[in-house]
Amino acid sequence: MEPTQAIEEALDSFGRQYLAAFAAASTEQALRDERAQLLGKKGALTEALKLMGKVPAADRKRIGERVNAEKAAVDAAFDERLRALHAEARARELTARPYDLSLPGRAPARGHRHPISLVIDDLLGIFRDLGFVVVEGPLVELEENNFTKLAFPPDHPATDMQDTFWVDVAGAPPGARTLLRTHTSSVQVREMSRRTPPMAIVSPGAVFRRDDDATHSPMFHQVEGFLVDRGVSMADLRGVLAAFAERLFGPGTKTRLRPSYFPFVEPGAEVDLSCALCAGSGCRVCKGTGWLEVLGCGMIHPEVFTHCGIDPEETTGFAFGLGVERLAMMRYGVPDLRLMFENDPRFLAQF
Ligand code: DAH
Repeated sequence: MEPTQAIEEALDSFGRQYLAAFAAASTEQALRDERAQLLGKKGALTEALKLMGKVPAADRKRIGERVNAEKAAVDAAFDERLRALHAEARARELTARPYDLSLPGRAPARGHRHPISLVIDDLLGIFRDLGFVVVEGPLVELEENNFTKLAFPPDHPATDMQDTFWVDVAGAPPGARTLLRTHTSSVQVREMSRRTPPMAIVSPGAVFRRDDDATHSPMFHQVEGFLVDRGVSMADLRGVLAAFAERLFGPGTKTRLRPSYFPFVEPGAEVDLSCALCAGSGCRVCKGTGWLEVLGCGMIHPEVFTHCGIDPEETTGFAFGLGVERLAMMRYGVPDLRLMFENDPRFLAQF
């Protein structure tokens, strides 16, 4: 076949199918691939053009014009479709959801209980096993529950302005003074006034004093315990404390009572436990003594019973109160009490 006819046939058969192919190309790459089928190195139009050199001079202008027109038409169709694809992509981007539903979920950081709460839970668990029930009292107290009925003399230093946060409470009984409780011993008064013996109660919670340094915080926690019945003796107190100590620090933990004074007990004592870290040989935690001071205790004073409507001739009982922070600091090796209440996640994440 002569070249002129070959090119014309090629151009005729070439037709307009590429318009449909361009329209069907849904990505830029697919569109470029379609274009290469025509104008690429081995493209249909390129192949036809290779014959141009052999076209006789008489036909060359006509054929040349036709080929150029075809090429221009392909390029124009290509450019138009490319612009459309870009516009579609941009529109998709602009109307897309601002989040990606296909991303895996982000697990929320799980919190956990505060170290003070962990220690309180352990303490309550021990006393529950020993038969005590848990009762809570209010943080804002009447002076009589916090001091007077616990037989604090009116001029006792604990009631000084330096120690106690006095507060005004709307609805308090006329003439009554109110304060943030300075210890959990106030729960003794509340419960002994509304129950009849026997009773064995533990009461955890926050207490408040005007104190603030590395080992004192204006807010800290205590667990109070008391057992009231006929014939309760100091031996019962010792037995309960010994059982408590062994459950807290492990079998073999020893208990030591030293005489001490609290207005609401007689006799009163401070209790040391043999150091859990060095088992009594002396270390940094127990400051070389082998003993850790953990609580105050004693036999409930007859005057307290009388204030609560209980006959001290028939009834006896013991009470104890321990500081939670001190135990928590010992258990976790925390050097500064204030860390417990700053709520710094770097500290709290360590428990
Ligand atoms: N309430 C005392 C305090 O805060 C602790 C205490 C001592 C409680 C002796 C008691 C007790 O029940 O018998 O310092």
